[in-house]
Amino acid sequence: MSQFAATDFDAQAYFSNRPTYPDSFYNVLDRYHKGPRRLLVDVGCGPGVATFQLASRLNSFDEIVGTDISSTMVERARVCKRQKPDEFANVSFEVSSADDFTFLEADKANKHACDMITAVECAHWFKFNKFQKVAAENLRKGGTLAIWGYGGAFFPEFPKIDKLIMDLTYGENELGPYWDQPGRNYLKNLYQDLRLDETLFTDIEDEIFTETDVRSNEHVHTEPVPLFMSKFLTLDEYLGFVRTWSSYHTWKKNHPQTEDIGDQFVKRVLDVYPELSRTSRIQVCLKTFYKFARAM
Ligand SMILES: C[S@@+](CC[C@H](N)C(=O)[O-])C[C@H]1O[C@@H](n2cnc3c(N)ncnc32)[C@H](O)[C@@H]1O
Repeated sequence: MSQFAATDFDAQAYFSNRPTYPDSFYNVLDRYHKGPRRLLVDVGCGPGVATFQLASRLNSFDEIVGTDISSTMVERARVCKRQKPDEFANVSFEVSSADDFTFLEADKANKHACDMITAVECAHWFKFNKFQKVAAENLRKGGTLAIWGYGGAFFPEFPKIDKLIMDLTYGENELGPYWDQPGRNYLKNLYQDLRLDETLFTDIEDEIFTETDVRSNEHVHTEPVPLFMSKFLTLDEYLGFVRTWSSYHTWKKNHPQTEDIGDQFVKRVLDVYPELSRTSRIQVCLKTFYKFARAM
């Protein structure tokens, strides 16, 4: 996934503007996992968004290693770790492809040394079948593979924005052509096309959450599903999130003279909902998915 690996990709802005995952979800993962907690590897870790949460929320693994193919992301993650050296003493980061565990000591790589492997908001960029095979080779028997993430947004109180965001994300004349494929389509379909191999894994849990799980036009204050991602953001803050998208990064390079595509989107939102302003705080929910499984 080339844009995240670009040396001019703003990994700091990514870290500040991407959502984190709810505590309640880590409790569900904590309960799912059985047995020893020596080594957890978080592949496609980016600047460590989930890696640091895994360290604080599960807080029970002896060693946690975040890996990412992008040295820009790994460098950012290392900077964050240096800011809290005591809290994250058991966390380290390596530049590595998700299907390569040779960063482990020679006696550990491909020897079922991991108790948990996580892939958060990234497995759609992998060669998925190769990744799940390598994950199975590196997990101990009964070790947990946990894959989760989020797709598009929806706006419970302002449903007309749902269409505008779909247009921005996938429109032919908007960001649609600037996504790497087929990865983005896997994400759009919330990984329903990516199946875990039942000859490698057992106790498979496969869940998605979409706007149809939420009563239309209603505020959502409760947490109806384990991976419920909702935040009150201003339109400008939401734009900060859009600007972390790889497609936005590519679009920007291709349109140096055009009015920013994010600003165009906000203008359309304000046309449809004139009562809003760029600083109005509105609820943004994300469609989410997760897959848990145990290695056989
Ligand atoms: C959207 S970010 C997710 C980062 C983080 N896990 C999170 O939850 O925000 C996707 C990350 O996957 C990484 N990535 C893409 N393809 C990869 C691969 N084949 N192996 C390892 N990392 C990869 C990218 O460099 C990027 O940092």
